[in-house]
Amino acid sequence: MTLSAISTTIAEELGKTGLSVYPDFLSNHSVSDVRDDLELIQNSHGFHRAGTGQNEGEEIRNKVRRDDVHWLNRNDSNRAQDILWVKIDSLKQAFNRTLYQGLSSFEGHYASYPSGGFYKRHRDSFKSDDSRQISMVLYLNKDWKSQDAGQLRVYQDNTHTDINPVGGTLVCFMSRESEHEVLTSNAPRQSFTGWFKREQKN
Ligand code: OGA
Ligand code: MN
Repeated sequence: MTLSAISTTIAEELGKTGLSVYPDFLSNHSVSDVRDDLELIQNSHGFHRAGTGQNEGEEIRNKVRRDDVHWLNRNDSNRAQDILWVKIDSLKQAFNRTLYQGLSSFEGHYASYPSGGFYKRHRDSFKSDDSRQISMVLYLNKDWKSQDAGQLRVYQDNTHTDINPVGGTLVCFMSRESEHEVLTSNAPRQSFTGWFKREQKN
């Protein structure tokens, strides 16, 4: 399947169920190129502790999430990151074409959870800022095993779906609808996480 056809499949699934899980969205080869880029940035201290968007103190933040992030800047990209931007452009087109989302921008970061890391149940879109429409997570883990845990749990209606953070798997869900959490990971856990946005109407 072409990238455009894959993106359309994902958009249609998202439209029907509010959640799309697509394994092998990125080839093993690309996953390892992107993971190398993440690790190079991390080893040169390019990551910082993630916040919660609510200006909370360190203590509260530690109870909510335990990951480090590095925001990507499209104007300062490299070969590995270009792999991601090509995919993002295709997904954005498919979401606009299929779901009439009027998405205008995207923001995304690498995320790295230490062993013991988690992110408590939350929503990605707030009352004060509802510009985030579609959330995506692309896992970059090498050889994820079930004992590593760290699943993404997405809540919908009265049920939930657990997604294994296997390298190459892409997860998309509606930012304003789905609460979700990252279960405690027993191994370091790496991803590229981002949000397709619409201009805010005030
Ligand atoms: C987030 C998030 C999910 C994941 O960064 O907001 O919910 O599986 N991430 O990493
Ligand atoms: Mn989230």
